[in-house]
Amino acid sequence: MGKKILFVSSSLRARSNSERLAQEAARGARDAGNEVELVSLKNKDLRFCKGCLVCQKTGKCVIQDDMTEMIAKVQSADALVFVTPIYYYELSGQLKTFLDRCNPLFPQEYAFREVYLMTASSEDGDEVYETAAGGLKGWIDCFPECRYAGSFSGGGLNDGGEAERKADVLERAYAFGKSL
Ligand SMILES: Cc1cc2nc3c(=O)[nH]c(=O)nc-3n(C[C@H](O)[C@H](O)[C@H](O)COP(=O)(O)O)c2cc1C
Repeated sequence: MGKKILFVSSSLRARSNSERLAQEAARGARDAGNEVELVSLKNKDLRFCKGCLVCQKTGKCVIQDDMTEMIAKVQSADALVFVTPIYYYELSGQLKTFLDRCNPLFPQEYAFREVYLMTASSEDGDEVYETAAGGLKGWIDCFPECRYAGSFSGGGLNDGGEAERKADVLERAYAFGKSL
């Protein structure tokens, strides 16, 4: 039986490379029989966590923005795929904010058991995304029912729209999606 897989794409750039790779992976995951949703943080109202910790008592964030809807999606997915451009060898700030804002889930039950990372970067090589993967693993460690299940990196992608012109990286992304 297929899984419910949520892709969260965090690049805000037009013709985003990481988002294009995520679209291809989502296509692969759908072709493999999964129920797939890809959400972009573009045009979302996503504000910083204030650290008040009210959510730990109420299960709800005091900030009224698009995260209310997003948290419900995260909570009910079987697998999560976080998608980010590499910024200074790290996750994008907007993805970090998204992860922080998932704090209402910390004391709650959640369905997700597998978490994946997809990155796009100018440079190529495992070391380019290792620090970002470490950041995500810190989040995963706080949700003990889930595990870091794997990653995809698209290196050598600098300008917007570059991923679209590279059949090999698109094929790899599709295969990654199929394997989820
Ligand atoms: C603020 C900033 C920091 C970046 N830092 C890195 C970096 O540390 N290593 C790298 O290889 N590319 C870096 N890049 C390049 C992006 O990762 C690259 O352009 C990527 O394709 C962007 O993906 P996107 O199109 O999905 O936004 C940086 C880009 C920006 C805007």
